[in-house]
Parts: sequence; structure tokens; C-alpha cells
Amino acid sequence: MINVNITSVCQMTRLVLPRMAERSKGVILNISSASGMYPVPLLTVYSASKAFVDFFSRGLQEEYRRQGIIIQSVLPFFVATKMTRIRKPTLDKPTPERYVASELSTVGLQSQTNGYFPHAVMGWVTTKVVPISIVIFLGARMNRLQRTGYLNRRRLRELRNGTSKKND
Ligand SMILES: NC(=O)c1ccc[n+]([C@@H]2O[C@H](COP(=O)([O-])OP(=O)(O)OC[C@H]3O[C@@H](n4cnc5c(N)ncnc54)[C@H](OP(=O)(O)O)[C@@H]3O)[C@@H](O)[C@H]2O)c1
Repeated sequence: MINVNITSVCQMTRLVLPRMAERSKGVILNISSASGMYPVPLLTVYSASKAFVDFFSRGLQEEYRRQGIIIQSVLPFFVATKMTRIRKPTLDKPTPERYVASELSTVGLQSQTNGYFPHAVMGWVTTKVVPISIVIFLGARMNRLQRTGYLNRRRLRELRNGTSKKND
């Protein structure tokens, strides 16, 4: 998680940013996550690594703003991709195509963005309206429920496999 979400971001930046600085031109979109906006229990390393991406991008944006380089921190909520295994896109869990089309329209306008209007509303509610302690508590509860569901399904699968092996 640290290699994929943190080390790779630093190394890619090191590869591309010096050339951009020479030409005073360039755009870097770093994909953080809404999980990086506050701690998410049971996704702790993911959440912390995404907070790194957000801080890193916003700090660098300030360093390179005067040279005309855009560095944007993108913090999506759920998008229906391979990673989330969401099969049915909805308004708040859009297809990648819909999300990206919306996100790209914010480049140059926002240095930190949820990238998609329904996600921006969710971001506003979870950072400005609901107290952080409640957001963390609800995140923990949601993830505990999800984990319990997963472990129960796995136990059932193992039991079923054990029974069918005995019958064989
Ligand atoms: N989808 C969401 O709801 C959501 C929300 C917030 C943030 N994000 C962020 O958006 C980014 C893209 O994710 P996605 O949702 O588009 O998921 P995705 O469709 O599954 O894409 C993830 C990509 O990362 C690659 N990858 C995974 N593990 C890797 C590893 N160990 N080494 C090298 N490459 C690896 C995958 O390669 P393969 O194709 O070869 O598997 C795939 O190309 C991620 O940084 C994720 O944290 C996603």
C-alpha cells in the first residue's frame, strides 16, 4: 500500500517535474481519495497513504504555482471500478468515464477537488457539517459491518466446501 500509494507518487513526480519546470508547463493529477480527508478505521493504511498524496500535492502546487505548473489533488468517493467491485453505477457511484469527464473540467480551477458534484456535496457534508468524531465513528461502523459480512460469507463458503468434500 505504501509502495503503490506513496513511493510511486514521489518517484513519478521526480521523473516528470524537473522537465515541466524547465518548460514552465505541465499538469499533474494525483489521485488521492475521500478516505484521505479524515481517518477511516479498518482502512487505516489506505486512508493515511491517501492523506499523504493530498498533502504532498497541495504543498507542491504552492511551490510550483508561479512556474505555471498545475498539480491537483483529486479526492473521489466511490467510483464503479475494478477496485471497488461496484457493478451497478449510481448517481453517487458513477462510472469511471462519467467521473473522469467531470473531474477534468475542474483542472486549472481547483487545486484540491472531489472532482464530481455529488462527491463535492458528500465532501462538504463530511468535513464541514458533521463533526469529525462522528465521521470517524460511522466509518468504523460501516467497515466493521462490511468485514463481519465478508467473514460470515467466507465461513459459509468454507462450511459448504467442507460438506461437499465429505459427500465426495
Ligand atoms: N474507485 C474508487 O472508488 C476510488 C475512490 C477513491 C480513490 N480511488 C483511487 O483511484 C485510483 C485508481 O483506482 P481505480 O478505482 O481506478 O481502480 P482500478 O480500476 O482497479 O485501477 C487500479 C490500477 O492500479 C493497478 N495496481 C494495483 N495494484 C498494483 C500494484 N501492486 N502495482 C502496480 N499496479 C497496481 C492496477 O493494475 P491491474 O489493472 O494490472 O490490476 C490498476 O491498473 C487508486 O489510486 C485508488 O486508490 C478510487
